[in-house]
Amino acid sequence: YQEKPRFPKNFMWGASSAAWQVEGAVNEDGRTPAIIDLNSQTKKPYADNSVAADHYHHYLEDVSLMAECGLSSYRFSIAWSRIIPDESRRVNPKGIEFYNHLINALIANHITPIVTLYHYDMPCWVDEKKGGWSDRRVIDEFEYYCQVCFENFGDRVKYWLTLNEQNMQIVYGDWLGVSKGCSDWFKEKWKINHIMNLCHAKAVIACHRMVPGGKIGPVPGYVPIYPETCNPADQIAAMNAEELTQKVWNDFYVFREYNGFIRRYWKEYGIDPDIRPQDMELIQQAEIDFIALNCYRSNVAKAADKDSEIKELQLNKSGKKGEFVYPVYPGIYALAPNPYVQTNDWDWEIDPVAMRYMLRYINDHYHLPMMITENGYGAHEEIAEDGGVHDQQRIHFLRDQIFQVGLAIEDGCEVIAYNPWSFTDLLSTGNGMAKRYGLVFVNTTDAEVRDLKRIKKDSFDWYSKFIKSNGKAW
Ligand code: BG6
Repeated sequence: YQEKPRFPKNFMWGASSAAWQVEGAVNEDGRTPAIIDLNSQTKKPYADNSVAADHYHHYLEDVSLMAECGLSSYRFSIAWSRIIPDESRRVNPKGIEFYNHLINALIANHITPIVTLYHYDMPCWVDEKKGGWSDRRVIDEFEYYCQVCFENFGDRVKYWLTLNEQNMQIVYGDWLGVSKGCSDWFKEKWKINHIMNLCHAKAVIACHRMVPGGKIGPVPGYVPIYPETCNPADQIAAMNAEELTQKVWNDFYVFREYNGFIRRYWKEYGIDPDIRPQDMELIQQAEIDFIALNCYRSNVAKAADKDSEIKELQLNKSGKKGEFVYPVYPGIYALAPNPYVQTNDWDWEIDPVAMRYMLRYINDHYHLPMMITENGYGAHEEIAEDGGVHDQQRIHFLRDQIFQVGLAIEDGCEVIAYNPWSFTDLLSTGNGMAKRYGLVFVNTTDAEVRDLKRIKKDSFDWYSKFIKSNGKAW
């Protein structure tokens, strides 16, 4: 590296996780099932989440590893069904106790907690007894759960995140269990999205009312989209893709109204998202403090002929390169491969410049502070003969990505934290333990639960040295 960007003095160097991907203990201490449990259990051959990384029983060991690494923040999520296990709305003291212990352990080690309220794990009782995401009753239930979190943890947790990747939950509705029971997902997704927006707004308003000094923001999943060529039709296709996968959400969070693109789209396709007048009054009050961003990759879009055949988005489930089928939305856009970047085993583009592009794009459009809440390298990994885990590719990935974060800061973006995914290995959403992300290896596989031993990977040592120098030891 020739020019080395500098990081601000109080920059938070952290790591990230989500409850259902890391905790395990799904039936312990009063936690009840969540929709993602059922989803993850049907994703064989991948491991289900009943053990995951067993963080529920290893959290003290995990926090002490975080401290050894030198983390100054840790982004994790609270499992709604641990806190409110059934429709009586009784608060589960054991759930509160677990997160109190975790938060206290973090603070004792000078690690700032950044807490996601919702990461794909709607309690089954909300789904079954309150109609799930397509029923407006979820809004009150979610607001109540958020209030319980703010009341119990708001004295120590000052950074809150609303719904993890609401945009991706809508884009990948089937994969994340949100579309269950919908007969016409193409249209109904927008009604569900509006309900999610109301949940987001309620959380923002309650946080500002209840948490002294509390700051709250959304967590969109962000995938920069480049046009395949300078053909103007490809440029518009890229803009369409940008709107329908992320910009509609980001505009909404910041401007607190639906943008012109989506209003026209709804009209054209006869979609009624059931927006009631008082909804927009509520949403107007939900002013966010920052945007948290999850970014792993970039995409390329090109124009798709109106008469082309529709191909829906599907993940590469095999972990073998070249199996991703690029989706086609006739008349709107199609995705295409990018010959300029490498890919990982699941065909995800490895594109550090996307990080700088994203930060500049979000900064230019919204002028808000930003934090990175996910970014990482998923790989097949094993313990080497010498007992270590030698993840050089992850070191390269992180270094290149962080370098671009630094350049974006020099470009004038206000970035306050970098939390790569993930601290320990955990269940990948799409691919279980087969796709590892951690700085710390967890000895277990999809096929069998092993001893769950934690082994620091080479990336742990690199990241530790780097962050302890506040970004000088490249
Ligand atoms: C993000 C999610 O979209 O991507 C995480 O917030 C997820 O939950 C991560 O694990 C990586 O995706 P995957 O499918 O590789 O685990």
